[in-house]
Amino acid sequence: MKILFYDTKKYDKDSFDNALANFPEITIDYLEPDLSVQTAALAKDYDAICGFVSSDVSAPVIDKLADNGVKLILMRCAGYNNVDLAAAAARNITVMRVPGYSPEAVAEHAITLALAVNRHIHKSYIKVRENNFSLVGLSGINFFGKTAGIVGTGKIGAAMCRICRGLGMKVIAYDMYPNKSLDFVEYVDMETLLRNSDLISLHCPLTKETYHMISEYTISRMKDNVILVNTSRGALINTEDLIAGIRKRKFFGVGLDVYEEETGNVFENREDDIMETSITSRLLSFPNVIVTSHQGFLTQEALLAISETTLQNAKDFEAGSPDQNNICKEA
Ligand SMILES: NC(=O)c1ccc[n+]([C@@H]2O[C@H](COP(=O)([O-])OP(=O)(O)OC[C@H]3O[C@@H](n4cnc5c(N)ncnc54)[C@H](O)[C@@H]3O)[C@@H](O)[C@H]2O)c1
Repeated sequence: MKILFYDTKKYDKDSFDNALANFPEITIDYLEPDLSVQTAALAKDYDAICGFVSSDVSAPVIDKLADNGVKLILMRCAGYNNVDLAAAAARNITVMRVPGYSPEAVAEHAITLALAVNRHIHKSYIKVRENNFSLVGLSGINFFGKTAGIVGTGKIGAAMCRICRGLGMKVIAYDMYPNKSLDFVEYVDMETLLRNSDLISLHCPLTKETYHMISEYTISRMKDNVILVNTSRGALINTEDLIAGIRKRKFFGVGLDVYEEETGNVFENREDDIMETSITSRLLSFPNVIVTSHQGFLTQEALLAISETTLQNAKDFEAGSPDQNNICKEA
């Protein structure tokens, strides 16, 4: 099987080249540009393409891929909100993903953001480098004894629940499908979670139902001085409402690994660019906000699991048994 790999970064190539040793029937050509209407044409004569969180996998792109003979879209990520599944089904293209490659990687990043913004690590790092050893403005709160509200207790949310319990927090959660393995978690409705949580961490997928679940209304229901963390998808939060809430001093801190309009920025060095939107700059202007660029997944263990599962998906498809990790079947 020949795979065309889009949006390649050095760490992708390193981990996939290592994993390829166990998949002699697969070859990969790596492209730096991401998948788009323009670059879809390059997939001619390939059996499959491999995309990531910012790839444009919309209907026009899928049409071009199908016209060029592509039969399989391998998403090397868990989320697939950027894939038009109906368009893929209409053109008989199978879409496979990597669910839960390392839930702990993302959950550990979520708690890193929460702890860092709470203890002002982003500020103290800079201050000490400037020989400013003053502690003014650096006080945080203890997480021990506080309440963590976890929205979505699938693989990553469950890992986050376990971490929060380890810190001595009371853990409450909202999910339509309570996770029975989390016997220490109290499931509550969303209103109760918003009202009682000192830390709110989002771990549900982006769907029509979850789009802008954090809005002016839900922010108004939160406790004052709450810490909000989003490592799932940017559009779970209405950013304009978030910015308004930050300006009203609602939040002790906000940690974002994802945010609306991140797509053009994700994984790119844009230090010489003029930014098209002011969302990132406005978020970065607040002293109690930390933004990282969709790096929750980025651990050695996760990269290894992503490459091995993606190649196994390709192998299963070739063998005619692409059921596991087939998003078209899950959806
Ligand atoms: N930052 C990163 O690098 C990174 C990496 C991987 C995944 N993610 C994001 O994390 C998300 C969660 O991943 P996962 O592997 O835990 O997914 P998962 O499918 O295991 O769990 C998602 C959970 O969300 C619940 N859910 C769905 N709609 C909900 C709603 N309206 N309210 C509350 N809960 C709801 C589901 O019932 C499920 O239990 C992914 O969808 C993806 O967007 C981010």
